[in-house]
Amino acid sequence: MTASSYHAPVLGPESIDLLAPRADGFYVDGTVGGGGHALLLLEACGGCRLLAVDRDPEAIAEARERLAEFRGRVRFLHARFDHFADDVEVRDRGIDGLLLDLGISSHQVDEDGRGFTFRSGAPLDMRMGSEGPTAAHLLATADEAELARIFREYGEERRARGLAREIVRRREEEPLRTSDDLVAVLTRVYRKPPTASDKARVFQALRIAVNREMEALDRVLEQALDALNAGGVIAVISYHSLEDRRVKHAFREWSRSCVCPPELPICQCRGRALGETLTRKPIRPGADEVERNPRARSALLRAWRKAA
Ligand SMILES: C[S@@+](CC[C@H](N)C(=O)[O-])C[C@H]1O[C@@H](n2cnc3c(N)ncnc32)[C@H](O)[C@@H]1O
Repeated sequence: MTASSYHAPVLGPESIDLLAPRADGFYVDGTVGGGGHALLLLEACGGCRLLAVDRDPEAIAEARERLAEFRGRVRFLHARFDHFADDVEVRDRGIDGLLLDLGISSHQVDEDGRGFTFRSGAPLDMRMGSEGPTAAHLLATADEAELARIFREYGEERRARGLAREIVRRREEEPLRTSDDLVAVLTRVYRKPPTASDKARVFQALRIAVNREMEALDRVLEQALDALNAGGVIAVISYHSLEDRRVKHAFREWSRSCVCPPELPICQCRGRALGETLTRKPIRPGADEVERNPRARSALLRAWRKAA
């Protein structure tokens, strides 16, 4: 497999510019995937060290091969990114930068057996790693209110309640096992075949719930704030408005110089901002990148730097 057929890195140069890696720095790529961003970072920094994390063992194997020439400067950690702060080197020396390129890789989408796709015949799995319940398990066990919440909150689905009701009705006859079973539910609720974007929204909502993606993002942002050394940078590439909102909110909170309650007429905390947002507006891929790599189209990059 070629590197770009596994996954083409999105906003690569832009994210590395924001991280501004130094030769003596120690960095974490929390979503190493096929190693595309990691390669750019290692090439750019001229000597830095990298902890490369991914919850998917296939990604770790691919990145290990792709980054082989940097052996000695890279360590691999097969774990969820919200476990990076348990690493001994992270605890001992802190980190100078963290990169998160959220969501799933092209390789994960393209492998039907992983069940991230709505192509016919795919199993309803959707786990990024091999641990935890699958999408089929979630659809079989979550109650109707929880299913409706998932489709409404993560998929902004207008028929969320109808979908949840139909899933519960259907699973009493027979469990939902494949993408076709879920598409059949959508067809019944919409009373017409769903469009590709309807399917994409609903499948993505389920994936976010299966992998507890929002919870993991909230945790890793808090951990990164602690683990970053002075002047260190967090750069996050999001593909979903809910992710981007969380990142924006965290960066805004950390950049406030006053943390007094709003009812106080004058500042009493003499607070000092923890750092500054480096991207007033999120950076988006240009038309040429989207043309080369349509999967980049929804990407939003934000970065924040801890005060020196
Ligand atoms: C968009 S891809 C990253 C691609 C990578 N930047 C590259 O250039 O090849 C996202 C990767 O993050 C991993 N991932 C997503 N959520 C994760 C989490 N909570 N912990 C660890 N890895 C995660 C996925 O398994 C996937 O390999």
